[in-house]
Amino acid sequence: MAAPGRINFIGEHTDYNKGFVLPAAVDKRIYAAIAKNGTGTINVFAQQLNESSSFSIFDGRRRSGWINYLIGVTHFLQQTGDTIEGVDVLIDGDIPVGAGMSSSAALCSGYGFALNELFGLDFSRMELAFIGQKTEHEFVGVKCGIMDQFASLHGKKGHAIKLDCRSMDYEYVPFDFDDYRIVLINTMVSHSLASTEYNVRRQQCEDGVALLQKYYPDIKSLRDVSYEQLTRHWKEFNATVYDRCTFVVNENQRLLAACDALRHNDLAGFGEMMYATHKGLSKRYEVSCRELDFLVEKAKTIPGVMGARMMGGGFGGCTINIVEQSAVERFGNEIAAAYKKEFAVAPELYDMQLEDGVKIVSAPAG
Ligand code: GLA
Repeated sequence: MAAPGRINFIGEHTDYNKGFVLPAAVDKRIYAAIAKNGTGTINVFAQQLNESSSFSIFDGRRRSGWINYLIGVTHFLQQTGDTIEGVDVLIDGDIPVGAGMSSSAALCSGYGFALNELFGLDFSRMELAFIGQKTEHEFVGVKCGIMDQFASLHGKKGHAIKLDCRSMDYEYVPFDFDDYRIVLINTMVSHSLASTEYNVRRQQCEDGVALLQKYYPDIKSLRDVSYEQLTRHWKEFNATVYDRCTFVVNENQRLLAACDALRHNDLAGFGEMMYATHKGLSKRYEVSCRELDFLVEKAKTIPGVMGARMMGGGFGGCTINIVEQSAVERFGNEIAAAYKKEFAVAPELYDMQLEDGVKIVSAPAG
């Protein structure tokens, strides 16, 4: 089984506000080999970490660390009354952990998909995505949206996916610009603040909704809020909550405009919106950090860069950059040198391909 990580072109922190996102599955993956073992125990070996762990299929208790993801998914698959038996699982992969490319969502999506196949459980890809999300919520404690699990399961080669996180309707948007590359730059800062601050942001958005609902009972989430409604009531808002809500309302609109730009092959317009998203995430949503801001500012000065922004939950991880093919080498060298000079750390660069979602692959020979 191979489960991809994801990138997100635009639409950040909009998923749990029931708005739109534009992610894609990529060519960095978690691989798992899974076989029934005839017992009631799940035995897992994580190759990258050189760690093993086991749990009973009936034991739905939370633990600490990566095994939680597998306990959670097993638990929720079992809850529906389906029968799972023990399996041996070998996990490996090349998604950098803590880089904001959703290695944990790939793990949940891929593991759930593999059990689904092995035991003929009949869950749809969408249901498996929700099981992965529920695992994050209830076993890991991060109140994430659905983007990451959805993207890992629904990716399509050469395409981004415009997802409506309320209706769960989605549409594949081709990203076929032969002369441009999608380059991620990893700050190598791992986001220790990310899970607590993430949940705080979510709460602040809900606080904003609660305030506006007094005037507009039809509003269910920030997705339903217009900029006019927001500004009309600004005096009643706590200033921080107002900033958070403003970002989300703008970001949703921006995503729709960005999709139009893509459809019209307007990569320059698309790139400008990426910069605007970064500014909002940094100044109004306050989920960026010095390293991410530095990379985006530097990217702006290098010829051939169409757009750049921080990607994912924030507080570290990667920036996503759209760069002219002929400028990629210079871009990589210049930005890596500048970053190393400033922070005394060499960033990692990844040139991304858009790929299919989770699938069964046969084991390599040998
Ligand atoms: C994390 C979450 C997603 C999404 C992004 C921000 O990756 O898991 O659900 O909210 O942050 O867009």
